[in-house]
Amino acid sequence: MFRHETVLLAPAIDALHVHNGGTYIDATFGRGGHTQYLLSQGHDLHVYAFDRDQTAIQSGKQLALQTNQQTDNYLELIQANFEDLQEQLLQRQVTTFDGIIYDLGVSSPQFDDPKRGFSYRYNARLDMRMDQSQALDAEYIINHWDYGQLVQIFFQYGDEKFSKRIARLIIEKRQQMPITTTFQLVEVIKQAIPAPARRQGGHPAKKVFQALRIAVNDELQALERSLQIAIKMLSPQGYLSVITFQSLEDRIVKQLFRQKSQVNVPRDLPVIPPDLQPILRLITRKPILPSAAELDHNHRAHSAHLRVAQKL
Ligand SMILES: C[S@@+](CC[C@H](N)C(=O)[O-])C[C@H]1O[C@@H](n2cnc3c(N)ncnc32)[C@H](O)[C@@H]1O
Repeated sequence: MFRHETVLLAPAIDALHVHNGGTYIDATFGRGGHTQYLLSQGHDLHVYAFDRDQTAIQSGKQLALQTNQQTDNYLELIQANFEDLQEQLLQRQVTTFDGIIYDLGVSSPQFDDPKRGFSYRYNARLDMRMDQSQALDAEYIINHWDYGQLVQIFFQYGDEKFSKRIARLIIEKRQQMPITTTFQLVEVIKQAIPAPARRQGGHPAKKVFQALRIAVNDELQALERSLQIAIKMLSPQGYLSVITFQSLEDRIVKQLFRQKSQVNVPRDLPVIPPDLQPILRLITRKPILPSAAELDHNHRAHSAHLRVAQKL
């Protein structure tokens, strides 16, 4: 089976200052690395772990059973998008929690399973859905979105400087025959990028595949919405730990944490209205990065950034 080696395991959970009797959220269960470590940190804990991927939830059933039967902790797995945090928790009469961890992006089992279509290294149907019941997939985007939409996602989400050439060739090729597999798309991208540029940097399809994955799963909007809700629901003194793997996600976390931890009112205002008071305290001014030892044995850790904030 496909394994997932958890990135920044202890730093992300230690930053939550887990205390006995507390309620905690793992927004991205994956293969449960952070959840398991969290559960080992206290007694009488209530942990609600989200993942939008059915296979991730399935993989955690045994852990939930063992936790609930053999320990004084409680673990509930919730198959849902973390942007629906509030609805899902309210259905369970949970109105507030003491800490939340996000470990964003895809898990190794998703990326390394050729069938999921996330990787340009394997030939597969163009899928890339984290939630396999979702209608929109990468094949639909590649074969139906118009030139402007394709250019926009390749450029914004992939920072691909040949976005226009790639989008133009996709449109031309798909008129002859639908582009349904990862390798067909890789070929089109290679053809669209001028030969000298193709030989530089990483794999020529890397940026477009990242852009497509973000678009299929609406990753940035989901993160922004979820963080706003999490900040509202977090109890005073509670902590948020967020691990990101690319700069667009990291920017969202950094800006939101900064905005919520500053007062933005004119200097001469005698009293700061309560709704303009800062509601977060920045714990990490600079992100925490994986140690050299972690980088040595886990290549996924390379782009990881951990940011932590505390509710005031
Ligand atoms: C990097 S993995 C998490 C790994 C986990 N921390 C571990 O130690 O095993 C990210 C997981 O988050 C899930 N995910 C990503 N975006 C999500 C969202 N908006 N809602 C719920 N789950 C999401 C993915 O399906 C994936 O399983």
